[in-house]
Amino acid sequence: MSTAKKDIKRITTHVLQGFKNENQPIAMITAYDYSMAKIYDEAGIDVILVGDSASNVMAGHETTLPITLDQMIYHAQSVVRAVKRALVVVDLPFGTYQGDSKKALQSAIRIMKESGAHAVKLEGGEKIIDSIERILKAGVPVMGHLGLTPQSIYKFGTYTVRAKEEEEAKQLMKDALLLEKVGCFGLVIEKIPATLGKDVSEKLIIPTIGIGAGKHMDGQVLVSHDLLGITKEFNPRFLRRYLNLYSEIKGAVQNYISDVKGRDFPSEDEQY
Ligand code: KIV
Repeated sequence: MSTAKKDIKRITTHVLQGFKNENQPIAMITAYDYSMAKIYDEAGIDVILVGDSASNVMAGHETTLPITLDQMIYHAQSVVRAVKRALVVVDLPFGTYQGDSKKALQSAIRIMKESGAHAVKLEGGEKIIDSIERILKAGVPVMGHLGLTPQSIYKFGTYTVRAKEEEEAKQLMKDALLLEKVGCFGLVIEKIPATLGKDVSEKLIIPTIGIGAGKHMDGQVLVSHDLLGITKEFNPRFLRRYLNLYSEIKGAVQNYISDVKGRDFPSEDEQY
């Protein structure tokens, strides 16, 4: 029976590979807390990423760099408590894996042990391969992340599309093949030309999940706060907003304020 037709109780890395084999797109979203993760899981999302974008959308930092391992574990614990079906992947934050594979393994183990998540995600290819291999050897599933890697924003200097030039595109392809070879179960690829996204997805056996990488990726991921319209200043071309929660919530709170100030809330029926 095909993966698509089976009533899947729990999404695993093997189920995701089945989706790729059967050309069935994978839907992934970020979550950082219990209540939202519960809704996404019940909606039928395949993968929940506890992204270090929590640094931006939850903590209000300009970049993803300041978030700590303890803070990521706190978010991951909250998400894991809510999830019954989706695969939960957690970002290793900046400074917890680059240049030191032993530290990388300790960071990954802390995430797996203390949160109960199912996999970790690391940004980069060749340069961090020792860290990735060490984590994989310990039996922890790893998702790669190539293209625009926000933890390197100060190196890039800008959030524009990556790998437009041949040299960078070739390096990205090389990194993708390397990550597959060492045993990553999937790759997030961020903000690259759609033609390159297509080439990489066709070359790789493992699933590719795109964010601003075009329609030919094996799956798509968006930051939940962006797709729900909670953030409003962030408007890249790749973003489709499915709601405008910023104004919905603001309107609701304005109505509440007005009801309280006008002594319209609570009513006779809303008191004991
Ligand atoms: O941290 C995050 O939300 C991410 C996504 C942009 C893929 O890595």
